[in-house]
Amino acid sequence: MSLLIKNGRIVTAVDDYYADVLVEGEQVVMIGKTLEVESARVIDATGRLVIPGGIDPHTHLEMPFGGTTSADDFETGTRAAAFGGTTTLVDFAIQGKGRSTLEGLETWHAKAEGKAVIDYGFHMIVTDMPDSRLVEMGRLADEGVTSYKLFMAYPGVLYSDDATIFRAMRQAGEDGTLICMHAENGIVIDEIIKTAVQQGKTAPRYHAKTRPTRMEGEGVHRAIAIAEVAGVPVYIVHLSSSDALEEVKRARDRGIHAFAETCPQYLFLDETSYDAPGFEGAKYVMTPALREKWNQDKLWQGLQFGDLHTIATDHCPFCFSGQKELGRTDFSKIPNGAPGVENRMSLLYNGGVVGGRISVNKFVELTSTAAAKMFGMFPRKGTIAVGSDADLVIFNPDRKETISVLNPHTHHMNVDYNTFEGFQVQGFPEVVISRGRVIVEDNAFKGRAGGGSFIKRARYGDLLRSPSSGQFSVR
Ligand code: URP
Ligand code: ZN
Ligand code: ZN
Repeated sequence: MSLLIKNGRIVTAVDDYYADVLVEGEQVVMIGKTLEVESARVIDATGRLVIPGGIDPHTHLEMPFGGTTSADDFETGTRAAAFGGTTTLVDFAIQGKGRSTLEGLETWHAKAEGKAVIDYGFHMIVTDMPDSRLVEMGRLADEGVTSYKLFMAYPGVLYSDDATIFRAMRQAGEDGTLICMHAENGIVIDEIIKTAVQQGKTAPRYHAKTRPTRMEGEGVHRAIAIAEVAGVPVYIVHLSSSDALEEVKRARDRGIHAFAETCPQYLFLDETSYDAPGFEGAKYVMTPALREKWNQDKLWQGLQFGDLHTIATDHCPFCFSGQKELGRTDFSKIPNGAPGVENRMSLLYNGGVVGGRISVNKFVELTSTAAAKMFGMFPRKGTIAVGSDADLVIFNPDRKETISVLNPHTHHMNVDYNTFEGFQVQGFPEVVISRGRVIVEDNAFKGRAGGGSFIKRARYGDLLRSPSSGQFSVR
């Protein structure tokens, strides 16, 4: 099956030009000024951008957490992602405490297979890594799972102590893989939460008050220091505050391989959301918490100057009704997480490109290319080039929509509210192509459950391997 996209403005992280793109099977096979070729199907992209499919490197689909399970499974979550212009996501598989990480991987494969409508990979959440299990990290990498998330937060649940973090980092250095860190001092935060609840401070707003940005900054500082001693790169997930960003900047200025992602919620929302009437603030209970508004400008600067590298959603949806309500009398029992996988591209285009903060190339870099490179999928994914997967989005830079749980164009997530309710955005994905198949068109889903494939990712260290020694090194 061939597909010819004509008259589009091709935008990648580095290019911006008008051309036609020919897709045959699953790949881009030809790009030219005016292609006069036979094709089974022609799409006219006049007035539209043709960009690489979005890559969301941080989602939690069907994740057991906070006494419940996140509301999107691999079918509903990836379908919503597709509507939003995302054609690949990297979800987090979880190692059960005291159990094999390989068993955790199998569980997540079973959740995704036959359901995902777009391509997907897995990071592995490590909850327990004694010496005897370190060998599993290399085995996971052989299976295409080349990054791990460790938590300095959530003591007693997903938390790892510094010894575990150091051990895992050293092993990642041996294997050429990448450690992702949820960097917040969960031990101190839990003490603050305990005191707040004892004092009767149980409303959603205390979620933010009990998670000071200093404790995120401390986590980031410690994660980077441990990584530096282990001699490995580190990737900080869902960075939310200036305090945390300053630590990343300081490290990078010293030549340390510290990378970080942020998320739309930290760029567009602030802690006043917790003051919504009644219990509505629970919708924004996510970790890290929303911050004071002035942090947003600092995060945009981080994106502009290259100290923040990717934009993920941390999509972890819980319905207000029946799930968020678990914490009605105690904010610490509200399941942590919020939906967002569908709205990332439009929010970023509107706030970034239309808002004059970033170029259209930077938009592509932040929403696709950088994640493909960081997580071992480039150049198969993350760009438009001959031989790359035909993961393409025909994006209307002028179309305006109001994001709402009630707008059938902006909300397909299996959750009863939208984090960005009422946001007006300019810039909208109209045709979404996943490995050569049109999966969204005319505001309708044209793909199928199981159409997405597991992507075996390369090791981060493959970028760094010394040709002479064959060793992985960041030095
Ligand atoms: O609140 C959040 N972010 N929930 C998902 C788990 C995590 O920490 O990423
Ligand atoms: Zn996290
Ligand atoms: Zn997360």
